[in-house]
Amino acid sequence: MKHFLDIHKTDPADLRKIIDQAGATKQARLGRPKAALDDELPLKDRMVALIFEKPSTRTRVSFDVGVRQMGGQTMVLSGKDMQLGHGETIADTARVLSRYVDMIMIRTFDETVLTEMADYADVPVINGLTDRTHPCQIMADVLTYEEHRGPIKGKKVVWAGDGNNVCASFLHAAGQFGFDLTFTGPSQLDPEEEFIGLARKAGAKVTIERDAFKAVEGADLIVADTWVSMHDSQSSKERRHNMLRPYQVNDDLMAHAKPDALFMHCLPAHREEEVTSAVMDGPQSVIFDEAENRLHAQKAVMRWCMGG
Ligand code: CP
Ligand code: NVA
Repeated sequence: MKHFLDIHKTDPADLRKIIDQAGATKQARLGRPKAALDDELPLKDRMVALIFEKPSTRTRVSFDVGVRQMGGQTMVLSGKDMQLGHGETIADTARVLSRYVDMIMIRTFDETVLTEMADYADVPVINGLTDRTHPCQIMADVLTYEEHRGPIKGKKVVWAGDGNNVCASFLHAAGQFGFDLTFTGPSQLDPEEEFIGLARKAGAKVTIERDAFKAVEGADLIVADTWVSMHDSQSSKERRHNMLRPYQVNDDLMAHAKPDALFMHCLPAHREEEVTSAVMDGPQSVIFDEAENRLHAQKAVMRWCMGG
């Protein structure tokens, strides 16, 4: 059994196996009803706990559907309704849950909740987003890029906006999958130095460019995310918007990238803020393929966690 905590903590060969498996399983069930079982059922007779301490649409539904397609059952738990939200320790929660379920996916605030859960659980633990990272999203994004354009290795990815949790996992993926990452955003919202260092150490070219138009020159993929994440205080909203406005992804910015550049956003998006509707709904956008691929990528992650 293996945990899936972060992309930089997972072996590149395993990451490649997961992406390839995800693509193959997706192809194998093309046209099947959503609730139809897969041909292979690696989660048959397995119970998976899905814990949410923050809101979610995609992560919640894609994990739930994915487990069922692989023959398992799910239990969706809200952090605030569990004793975990009322003083029970993470370690005790992990040990108790391990007696009932075969795998745990958790979306939480502080990363230490995830890592402590993994330290004490006897079953695989999957990161469904923390304040610091969102690895499942980027597995889906790599799958999506490669479906449309072939290998991501050596490509130029531009992150526009806040150097947040999703950006962090892109940096981890740059190191592990071998693509270049350019960050364009205000210096106050730069990605963590530690993560930039990790990506560079793994051989990725990481560039910081304050001018968004210069940043996207030669880009194969442009990525945006919300300007105010779930862990950010609402009182910072106006300040963040003022800093981030020059980094909006719009038609003008897209026109400075390669003509066949793709646009991605993990969603939920704030239309006309970090990205215009014209880009979101335009021909270069693959945002709904990304959302669909959460399902396929996470199924492959779960299979890998269970030793498959
Ligand atoms: N992209 C993503 O994780 O979406 P949800 O917050 O809806 O799960
Ligand atoms: N950066 C966003 C991603 C949501 C899926 C957040 O953490 O709120």
